Amino acid sequence: MKRLQRLGIILLLIGSLQATAQDAGMKVFIDALMKKMTLEEKLGQLNLPGSGDIVTGQAGNSDIAQKIQEGKVGGLFNIKSVAKIKEVQKLAVEKSRLKIPLIFGMDVIHGYETVFPIPLGLSCSWDMKLVERSARIAATEASADGICWTFSPMVDIARDPRWGRIAEGAGEDPYLGSQVAKAMVQGYQGNDLKKNNTIMACVKHYALYGAAEAGRDYNTVDMSHQRMYNVYLPPYKAAVDAGAGSIMSSFNEVDGVPATANKWLLTDVLRKQWGFKGFVVTDYTGINEMVDHGIGDLPAVSARALMAGVDMDMVGESILNYSAKSLKEGKVTMAQINAACRRILEAKYKLGLFGDPYKYCDENRAKTEIFTDANRKEARSIAAQSFVLLKNQLLPGGSGPVLPLKKSGTIALIGPLADNKENMPGTWSVAANFSKATSLLTGLKEVAGDKAKIIYAKGSNLDADAAFEERAGMFGKGLGRDNRPAAEIIQEALNIAYQADVIVAALGESAEMSGESSSRSNIEIPEAQKDLLKALLKTGKPVVLVLFTGRPLVLKWENENVPAILNVWFGGSEAGYAIADVLFGDVNPSGKLSTTFPQNIGQVPIYYAHKNTGRPLGEGKWFEKFRSNYLDVSNDPVYPFGFGLSYTTFTYSDVKLSSTSLKGNQALTASVTVTNNGNKDGKEVVQLYIRDVVGSVTRPVKELKGFQKIELKGGESKTVTFNITPDDLKFYNYDLKYDWEPGEFVIMIGTNSRDVKSATVNWVK
Ligand code: BGC
Repeated sequence: MKRLQRLGIILLLIGSLQATAQDAGMKVFIDALMKKMTLEEKLGQLNLPGSGDIVTGQAGNSDIAQKIQEGKVGGLFNIKSVAKIKEVQKLAVEKSRLKIPLIFGMDVIHGYETVFPIPLGLSCSWDMKLVERSARIAATEASADGICWTFSPMVDIARDPRWGRIAEGAGEDPYLGSQVAKAMVQGYQGNDLKKNNTIMACVKHYALYGAAEAGRDYNTVDMSHQRMYNVYLPPYKAAVDAGAGSIMSSFNEVDGVPATANKWLLTDVLRKQWGFKGFVVTDYTGINEMVDHGIGDLPAVSARALMAGVDMDMVGESILNYSAKSLKEGKVTMAQINAACRRILEAKYKLGLFGDPYKYCDENRAKTEIFTDANRKEARSIAAQSFVLLKNQLLPGGSGPVLPLKKSGTIALIGPLADNKENMPGTWSVAANFSKATSLLTGLKEVAGDKAKIIYAKGSNLDADAAFEERAGMFGKGLGRDNRPAAEIIQEALNIAYQADVIVAALGESAEMSGESSSRSNIEIPEAQKDLLKALLKTGKPVVLVLFTGRPLVLKWENENVPAILNVWFGGSEAGYAIADVLFGDVNPSGKLSTTFPQNIGQVPIYYAHKNTGRPLGEGKWFEKFRSNYLDVSNDPVYPFGFGLSYTTFTYSDVKLSSTSLKGNQALTASVTVTNNGNKDGKEVVQLYIRDVVGSVTRPVKELKGFQKIELKGGESKTVTFNITPDDLKFYNYDLKYDWEPGEFVIMIGTNSRDVKSATVNWVK
């Protein structure tokens, strides 16, 4: 055996011995503690109440202070600042009988005060180091402010853009979603939860929340186990395999039983099949809502949740209130209460809270590690890599494409989203300081410096309907309504536009048009903004659409009529600068879509990894009678999964396989040579898809199985090689057995899920 290998094995052994010793130490500690606990104190650990509004210096007078002192609270969430957290922790460790510290959670979803792109945007970077880095910085900032537990990553696969929460996940694909899930967990938790700058992850929303019928939030989910295991469950499992310390049950039902009372989901799959060792927390009032789901009254649903495998009750307090009675009636068992209590105590132990309950309450760290210049700089660079260039047409007269813009002349920035910093961070920016975010107008002006003149007009309201605009501007993120007639507001913008060489139109969704409880049945840019866009196009000046959105939108008309489209999602606190960096070409865009963009709402759900059906439409066709298609629209999307342009262009050679016939565990290599045809340096995400041509169950027409993000200088070529093993061919069969089946496989490599080169291999067992 090579020396290095031997050393590796020895280190692994030492590591696992240390872990076992830690586990043993933890067990002894918790056994001793639990012996002292009353039933009420045990139930207290399972309680995660809403914290209300705790004012600094007033924690002792807050509603929950009494409960904390009585040992009836296990943790709190969404409290911001070391001062407040310290004060509340003090109540627990000085005033409660057993002095058990509280765990402090927060929705640190895409950054803390330094805000990164919304998760959907971040996933479009297809750069796992960068995803991990964003979570690492988020953990550092959150932990510097007292937080040790985050309700992230959200890994719900979503194939319906009507669902507003598509913004919070990594899109439609289980492979990409699993990679992101893993990177996020590693970023938050690092390799040692005992450190004071790592925090515990909470994977959510387990499970299938993204498949709400009709894209209406909290709606019913009903799905085959085939789809569940092959498409929706893999990212949760990947996060569990990466060591996520906790998981959140979802609001929806699964197989007719709400996830929060679903024993099969929370115990059989999660613990028995996947070996999850952490704890399960419900979503916000998830237990109480089961009364409305219609599976029993409060005592009944609390008992069901506990017995199904819930360990912590978020906000509802019904486990605390009803479990003692249920225990007497034999509806819950002491063993289950003990198991849940132990898991919460274990999480606190793993975080090192028993050693030092104030571990995350270092005022000095809070002052020096949050929203630092270094973190903001990284956020700016990460944001730029999440943007997706959807279109970039050549200008008439041979002066090149519309983008990048020259840093000269006059640029008219127009649109309701152009000058609003509160809107930039995007949904679920709980810890953000909105006044510190940068608007696009400010970013553009600063990056242009004195080289180009930036002039601005609002041009339209977000929507013609004031009531809609109010709903879409919650949490202090209103856009400020202009009550003049629409024509007057447009005319003002046109007067500005006519003075410019180029128009940048900042349009789309406001931050709160996506996220929780923000489903839409119409996923187009609101009409009022489209009217503005049409008027701007009529000026005959080049128009760049800078599109803000938290979901895939229907952009058929825009794709046909607007010369350049840059999709910037919600890029976070530094997005104003990052957008300017990309518009001016200081950064070459390299994002690729992680969701399909439909031609119209009727095509939804539309996703690249669909099944072939028994009546597939021939390639390149629109309509054929008695084929699976529509009378009024082709089956194609406007932009396919994996799509995204660059300021340079890349070409792909044919796919070269190391062999076309393989046996058993042999490995296959598939390679292509990618060439940067332009003179600008650029990044390209090279994507590998595989089709399993014949299966014992039907298989998708292609599935993402790998990707590599490469950097190519202008004119440079690189060969990209993927190693493929039978593991990459595995799927859950009819009996839900995970294995691969011999036969023919089409290996496809390309720049997006549609434009691929392919080669075929025969693989026998
Ligand atoms: C959301 C969760 C979130 C929780 C706590 C719920 O409404 O569904 O994603 O973590 O609130 O804020």
